[in-house]
Amino acid sequence: MPSISIDPLAEIARHVEERHGIDFGRYKPRCLMRRLNVRMRAVGADDLEAYAAYLVSHHEEADRLVEALAINFSFFYRDRGLFRILGEQVLPDLVRRFPTGPLRIWSAGCAAGEEIYSLGILALETLAERDHGRLVLIGTDIDPPALEEAREGIYNRSKVTSLDNPLIEQYFHPDAASGMLRVRDALRTRAQFRRADLLGPTPYRGVSLICCRNVMIYLQPQHQERILEHLASALRPGGVLALGRVERLTGDSRRWFDTVDAAERVYRRKCMAGESQCS
Ligand SMILES: C[S@@+](CC[C@H](N)C(=O)[O-])C[C@H]1O[C@@H](n2cnc3c(N)ncnc32)[C@H](O)[C@@H]1O
Repeated sequence: MPSISIDPLAEIARHVEERHGIDFGRYKPRCLMRRLNVRMRAVGADDLEAYAAYLVSHHEEADRLVEALAINFSFFYRDRGLFRILGEQVLPDLVRRFPTGPLRIWSAGCAAGEEIYSLGILALETLAERDHGRLVLIGTDIDPPALEEAREGIYNRSKVTSLDNPLIEQYFHPDAASGMLRVRDALRTRAQFRRADLLGPTPYRGVSLICCRNVMIYLQPQHQERILEHLASALRPGGVLALGRVERLTGDSRRWFDTVDAAERVYRRKCMAGESQCS
């Protein structure tokens, strides 16, 4: 095993940035150390130096570390209170504001797809059939294996316990090979998945609804603010950002939004000076 003489944390950071383009400086230090400890235990490294040496001599370990940092935990209809507001208030209002053209719904930090498929189910259940063809479901994440799972759309039954049985029957079928549940093609093929780092420039514009939940909590405040600015610029004026109860608007990003629901942290994108197409 190669010996690591310089600061082992800097060496780990350099290695991960080189392989994955992810800068450690974005994470809160406590979160970073917790995830590093998980990986150190997993590979039997007693200290950071031993772990750094393991990392540079085992190529796949950088992937494991990035997976550990990604924290992909999610499930269907996570936080029913938020889904109630989205279904009863936000989606019907978006259809009124934007009666024609695509209705883009983006799960930013979609993990293995649970959130965007949930939003798809909610939209199909809430909106009139004439609007179904306008739905564009987008899931993005930084973690390629999670996106692969999202495209497959196969889930353990424990992931759908917040869904009522009729919805499970309507939108899933048992997957013969795995014994798990697979999202039916009618919904699965509506969703598009793509790798995107929310700290980079946003690949989307004109989005009607963005859900970004349980993503920014692990990041330093200045990075949270940058992400919020990116999400604001992706939303069309009048579009909605749903953060859920864990995250909040920070710093300068507040200037972009009016509050729709303070408890569930749902915000409407303001129409800024000089913008056209405000509704
Ligand atoms: C805990 S999951 C949240 C999933 C879902 N939004 C939910 O609330 O159930 C966090 C996800 O954010 C992704 N993530 C973290 N940092 C990211 C970034 N900078 N850009 C895109 N995705 C990111 C992780 O890979 C992970 O899949």
